[in-house]
Amino acid sequence: MGKLIFVSNRLPVTVKKNETDIEYNKSIGGLATGLKSYHEQGNSVWAGWPGISEDVLQDEEQNTISAKLQDDYNCLPIFLSEEDIELYYHGFSNETIWPLFHYFTSNTQYNQDTWEAYKRVNQKFFDTLDAVIEPDDTIWIHDYQLMLLPQMIREKYPNAQIGFFLHIPFPSYEIFRLLIWREEILQGLLGANLIGFHTFDYVRHFLSSVRRLLGIENNMYKLNYETHTVRVDAFPMGIDYDYFFKSDPEDKLSDELRDFIANTGDVQNIISIDRLDYTKGIPDRIKAFKRFLKEYPEYHEKVRLNLIVAPSRVEVETYDNLKKQIEVLVSQVNGEFGTVNWMPIWFFFRSFSQDDLITFYRHSDVLLVTPLRDGMNLVAKEYIASRNDYKGMLVMSETAGAASELGEAVIVNANNHREIANGIKAALDMPDAEKIERNKMMHRRLSRYNVKFWADEFITALKNTDSEQIEDKPV
Ligand code: G6P
Repeated sequence: MGKLIFVSNRLPVTVKKNETDIEYNKSIGGLATGLKSYHEQGNSVWAGWPGISEDVLQDEEQNTISAKLQDDYNCLPIFLSEEDIELYYHGFSNETIWPLFHYFTSNTQYNQDTWEAYKRVNQKFFDTLDAVIEPDDTIWIHDYQLMLLPQMIREKYPNAQIGFFLHIPFPSYEIFRLLIWREEILQGLLGANLIGFHTFDYVRHFLSSVRRLLGIENNMYKLNYETHTVRVDAFPMGIDYDYFFKSDPEDKLSDELRDFIANTGDVQNIISIDRLDYTKGIPDRIKAFKRFLKEYPEYHEKVRLNLIVAPSRVEVETYDNLKKQIEVLVSQVNGEFGTVNWMPIWFFFRSFSQDDLITFYRHSDVLLVTPLRDGMNLVAKEYIASRNDYKGMLVMSETAGAASELGEAVIVNANNHREIANGIKAALDMPDAEKIERNKMMHRRLSRYNVKFWADEFITALKNTDSEQIEDKPV
């Protein structure tokens, strides 16, 4: 039996160079957790970028890092230069694909140089992988930074089992067609035997683009492409449910969180947690909270919004501008409504440890997740699972992929401030019995369709794909 090869832009380990030594930090993200049981079995390797520029490393240091990543973490690093990071990562990945696939057409840049870099870096990934691929390996590629890689591998290894999973939305044809290099991206993806998305809507959008741009029809989510068959399906990603449900972080807590618990008193806590990103709808969320405070003054001094924004991609101009916009909005709300006893929004521009986050979840009456567009949103699932007393309530926008699985939450339109304000009130006022009933239904789903289930289902489907040509769709 061949080995399993996982490929993602970022490795599950990030390398940092300090003045005196090199630091290795394991990632706690959903993907790393989901693939952990496979990755730790031994017969697998994970290839990706260790998060550091190769330009700051001497050859000797690169060799040390490669050896350490290989020996201790089963990881195969792909080093990127400053230029690769600028053009492929910040450029094509995060200034072209990311905004376009999240329907931010006016933020989307079309630049031939970044496209060339995207091709070059996908090729760099292939060249590194080429040294370790054996014909009976199973290869699972992740996300929008590597959409050309399936076809590059297919050309050299026609019988390889190649899977691809997109962690962000696949947009409707009307949006996707705007991309200058749209055919190349589809052809790149179709090198895979199995292409997975979070929801059926994304599957439909992808198949519609394949049909309209390449003229290839599908038959029951399968299609013939060159010499192999491609299956396209939805695999909604879950979380490590048991971990969040059972976790007992109380004795690992930071002093800061201890103070938070001690001082919240009679105030009801609303929490909001995102990476800094314009797709997350943070300014609209603050405006909606302002509207809530305006319309329902009886909540003044009784509710607090803990707004946690984790720094991300700040080198990209739109992200830096967003940070400034959030700061202005937060101070406007606090300036207008705050009293000597009460600050309505507590804004944290930083990350918290997993234990601190779970504690935040457990002490928050409401989680407010209102992305303008989000592939899935695992924070919503983590919050529900962490509230093992079933007494929290999620307010979530319908444009998050997770909304299609979490229908018992309070579902709102991310652009509708009045609806979000009313949603906050409904969640805060909801009787315990109703919250428990709604949460128990969501808990059942989350515990069954956990992240292990997601990875198992995808890998099993990938191993079972055969390359027999399917019959043409009956007319
Ligand atoms: C999203 C993407 C991932 C990405 C993550 C963090 O979840 O789907 O591919 O790794 O954001 O973004 P970053 O740019 O820091 O890798």
